[in-house]
Amino acid sequence: MATITPETVEELRIAAAAAAENAYAPYSGFRVGAALLFEDGGIATGCNVENVSYGLTICAERTALVRAIAENGSARRIVAVLVTNLNDAPIPPCGACLQALSEFVTANAAVCFNDSRQMVAKPFAELLPYAFGNWDTKSDLRR
Ligand code: THU
Repeated sequence: MATITPETVEELRIAAAAAAENAYAPYSGFRVGAALLFEDGGIATGCNVENVSYGLTICAERTALVRAIAENGSARRIVAVLVTNLNDAPIPPCGACLQALSEFVTANAAVCFNDSRQMVAKPFAELLPYAFGNWDTKSDLRR
């Protein structure tokens, strides 16, 4: 797993918590913030954005992902993902977000989240060991 210092984790946590302040979550009341750390040191944040057509809701992690790509392109790889919330709930990123992120993470990326109120860091591959990947091994569509 990528080596992430406690200072970096705290920087990501503060950035994610600030993003969560902008969450649009009138239906669940669950306000989530995410921060992605890229290999060049850049950080992208996002919050969840809900919709009255509930299935259209986008999670904080995917908001951060699409924001990062829209602003900086898709060449950079993610070395760490941090998710937090303003509801004091212990949650890792959901499976859908892990799948979306899997296309852009480094092989040893870390995922940080609140586990029973303590921030933990886990290998991305431990949270999603069988990400759906490119079935065409002759080319890598992720680059
Ligand atoms: N949510 C996230 O933002 N990230 C996750 O990984 C899990 C769930 C949001 C979606 C919805 O707005 C609210 O949390 C309740 O599910």
